[in-house]
Amino acid sequence: MLTLESVTYRYAGAPRPSLHDVSLELHSGEVLGLIGASEAGKTTLCLVASGLAPRTMGGTLTGRVLVDGEDTAPLAMHELAGRIGIAFASPATQLSGVAATVYEEVAFGPMNLGVPRSELIARTEEALTALRIESLADRDPALLSGGQQQLVAIAGLLALRPAHLVLDEPTAQLDPAGTAMVAAALAGLAAGGASILVAEQKTDLLLGICSRVLVIDSGRAVLDGPAAEILTGPQLADLGVAPPAAIRLRRAAVNASLPAATLARLDEAIAHAMPQ
Ligand SMILES: Nc1ncnc2c1ncn2[C@@H]1O[C@H](COP(=O)(O)OP(=O)(O)O)[C@@H](O)[C@H]1O
Ligand SMILES: [Mg+2]
Repeated sequence: MLTLESVTYRYAGAPRPSLHDVSLELHSGEVLGLIGASEAGKTTLCLVASGLAPRTMGGTLTGRVLVDGEDTAPLAMHELAGRIGIAFASPATQLSGVAATVYEEVAFGPMNLGVPRSELIARTEEALTALRIESLADRDPALLSGGQQQLVAIAGLLALRPAHLVLDEPTAQLDPAGTAMVAAALAGLAAGGASILVAEQKTDLLLGICSRVLVIDSGRAVLDGPAAEILTGPQLADLGVAPPAAIRLRRAAVNASLPAATLARLDEAIAHAMPQ
């Protein structure tokens, strides 16, 4: 479980806090989607939840961040790193820079944790398969595209099998196929008991994998509830977030004054397409 208790955070030198009194509870097996307009504070919340802020970035934090009920304030970053996996939008910064091949890159994290060799191989191959990047195994990570690097970075996280994961727009550089792969990998991790916080602009992706969604606006948590309810609700557009495609289609159909029978059939199709 990952818990934020009334967290307010101000970057070093900033005139005002970027997060105001944010509380959340993320349980084992739960995927919490984090949405909000640009500059709303999504990245800041990811930095705080993962322990990078204020630990490595400075700034001031009030309130508490707890991992499995334990206050993280006294923990060093390397102690936290074993418990919370982190992925940020820019993959190049997450690769180790020391691995000569994708295979070594994915194995790097668990190898540093001292995972035994046979398990290391199993975890690495499983992670490569989950993201369908087996064919990249012998390639130099530095020479891959941004999208491929992101998949490698996420495979590296999978291989670590963290109990908690914080991801900031992990599919920003990915095409729909890559995005779907990441979605499936995250759903698999959550099914295995991980708690996952994922900031995303892609509400279609969130609709597929999240149990809950938190909306932030100007650093404040303004909505927190079941994913289907929030993502299909009327407030999203006012909060600077594009609703899922099916919802936009439904609204366009209403605005175009389609006949009631057509709308009813569209609703049926949408209900069919919506994840349960
Ligand atoms: N390093 C920083 N120093 C000072 N202010 C920052 C820093 N990074 C982000 N901010 C400010 O914090 C607010 C939230 O930004 P951010 O968390 O990046 O939003 P989002 O990820 O939702 O786009 C913005 O007002 C932004 O200008
Ligand atoms: Mg951001």
